[in-house]
Order: sequence, then structure tokens, then C-alpha cells
Amino acid sequence: MTRKLFLLPGDGIGPEAMNEVRKLIAFMNDKQNAGFETDEGLVGGSAYDAHGESISDADMDKAMAADAVLFGAVGGPKWDDVPYEARPEAGLLRLRKDMELFANLRPAICYPALANSSSLKPEVVEGLDILIVRELTGGVYFGEPKEIIDLGNGQKRGIDTQVYDTYEIERISGVAFEMARTRQNKVCSMEKRNVMKSGVLWNEVVTATHGANYSDVELSHMLADAGGMQLVRWPKQFDVIVCDNLFGDMLSDIAAMLTGSLGMLPSASLGAPDPKTGSRKALYEPVHGSAPDIAGQGIANPIAMISSFAMCLRYSFNMVDEANMVEKAIANVLETGKRTGDIMSDGCTQISTSEMGDAISEEYASLLG
Ligand code: IPM
Ligand code: MG
Repeated sequence: MTRKLFLLPGDGIGPEAMNEVRKLIAFMNDKQNAGFETDEGLVGGSAYDAHGESISDADMDKAMAADAVLFGAVGGPKWDDVPYEARPEAGLLRLRKDMELFANLRPAICYPALANSSSLKPEVVEGLDILIVRELTGGVYFGEPKEIIDLGNGQKRGIDTQVYDTYEIERISGVAFEMARTRQNKVCSMEKRNVMKSGVLWNEVVTATHGANYSDVELSHMLADAGGMQLVRWPKQFDVIVCDNLFGDMLSDIAAMLTGSLGMLPSASLGAPDPKTGSRKALYEPVHGSAPDIAGQGIANPIAMISSFAMCLRYSFNMVDEANMVEKAIANVLETGKRTGDIMSDGCTQISTSEMGDAISEEYASLLG
């Protein structure tokens, strides 16, 4: 069988992190007959440099046709002045929108070996395992109007529109409830119903969806600002958090730091399953950005990218054993005290991006036996 992967390494540390995933792909093809077929494209600033837009139509077509897309990171100061429509982030947003990847899963797991790397006390984060389910194709990211208008009196007005329809809230909360059933069976929904109409509707629809189909799951609601506070106060109270696109963006960066470093957090962006084949469009990307300040130095942490590949194995190919083994390999390597700079602590050994990738691939190989 062939499994079609489309790689979009992007900018900054994206390509360096992606190289470490290639090692695992090659190993799995070689030793496990995994049948991965990879093709590669350009996204973000690198696509802009090549053809003046943040992703070409040809690469969009390839992304649509692939079984899964692996995405590195986009952006950097080099492209600060490119036109808004062609800015690096536009490529990522187009992928999300055109592939209809409405469900973004961002698991924040604190590996035992990293409890000391978090800026929070170890007892607050030790054993942490939460999942943020972020709505990804709606809300203020995409709502219209979205523009800057000239008021003609020396003033301008910047407008973004926060908008959600019932079906969008139903389907994302459905994903959150389904995920909760495979975990601790708890969902906390976060919005700002005290200020925003879309928050009032969000709250209502999540509650109704729960009542109709998921009353076995424990549901709570929290205002998003209080949720941010609770995430740093006592994050272990949460199992699954469901929220809109913008709150999900912010809360997942907070959650990432609980795990020790933004360099640890993977994500999966999923579309709806095809009613005939059951397969779904999917893109996997680390939550961290392109980190231009450290790009090209070989010091970036490839773990978020590698664990994004583990999510790909799990959700796109149902290779659950392999996914678990990649995650186990990461945990084991961290146990040995190997660290990239971002998660470095006393008594550990600092290694490079590629050394980390090698260590994880070798550990994977030895787990395979
Ligand atoms: C993320 C990123 C993106 C977002 C950017 C790069 C457009 O911050 O995936 O969290 O805001 O969604
Ligand atoms: Mg973000």
C-alpha cells in the first residue's frame, strides 16, 4: 500500500525540524514496509521568494490530493513588508480553509523528564495531559468584513469580524466530546459570553450538543480569560478544552509552555470524514513558529515536529502502535538527559537538532526490536 505524504517544510526552523521526520519516514519505509511516498512543496516566505505568493495553486492541489500534509512553520522578518495577501501566514490559512480543516487538536503533555523545564512548579505540570480542541476555519480569522477603511478625516478603521454559525459550533464540540470519550471524559468549553454574541451562541450550542448526543461526558463552561488564568494556576483540572479559533490560538500557546517549551507541542488539523471512505483531509504541524532568531543554527527542537508526525500516524493512517512507539521513543530519549537548548536544564546534555532526531530514530528502532 502507498501512503501519500505531502511535505511543506516552510521557513525558519521548519526545514530543519522536517529533516528529522524524514529520518523516521525513511526508516519506516525501509524496515517496516510503511509505503510512504513523499512529495514536497513550498509554503510561506520560501514560496513567496519562488513565485510571489504564499502557496502556489499547484502545491495546493498536491496538498488536497495527499493522504496527509506535514507542515513545518512559516514567516520571518525577511517578509515583513510583503503585501498582506502574500504574507507567509496566508499560505497556512489558505491550506486550513481550502482543505476545510475545521478541527485542530493540540495535545499538551508534560513528559516526566521535563517537569523541571516548565516555568511553573514541577508539581503543577507533572503528569499533565490536556487536549485543546480549537475551531480552525471560522471566527475572527476568516469573518467578513475584514479590512482597513479610510474614514476620510485622517482616521482609518480596522475591522475584523467574529462570526460563528450553529453548524460550526456543533461540529467542533462534537469532536471535543468524541475525543473526551477516549480520555478522561471531561470537556471544558471556553468563550466570552459575557461580552460577545458569538460567545452566547457558542455556549448555547455546546450545551445543546452535549444534551442531545453526549450527556455521558462531563461538561463545564469557563470564560476564556478565566480559563487562561486556570491554565497556569492548576492545569491538571482540565481534560479537553474546546474553544474558537482566536481563543484556541492564545490558550494553546499558554498550554505549550506548561509542557516545558513551545518546541514540544504538536498539532493535527482535521477535516470531516468522507462519508464513503471514512478518510479525512489532514495537516500536521508543530504549534511553534518559524523561530527566525535561531534558524539555520541546528539548535531547534524537532520534537514538536516529530510528535506531529506521530499524530499523523495515529489519525491519518491508524498506525496506532507506531504512533505510540514514536512518542515512547521521545520520552525515553528525554529520560536519558538529552536536550535541545530550549529544554536544557542542569545535569543534562545539550545536543543539536539532528542529534535529537537521530536519537529518537535510533530509540524507535530499538523499541521495534
Ligand atoms: C498557530 C499560529 C498561526 C495562527 C499563525 C502562524 C497564522 O500562531 O497555528 O497557532 O494564528 O493560527
Ligand atoms: Mg498560535
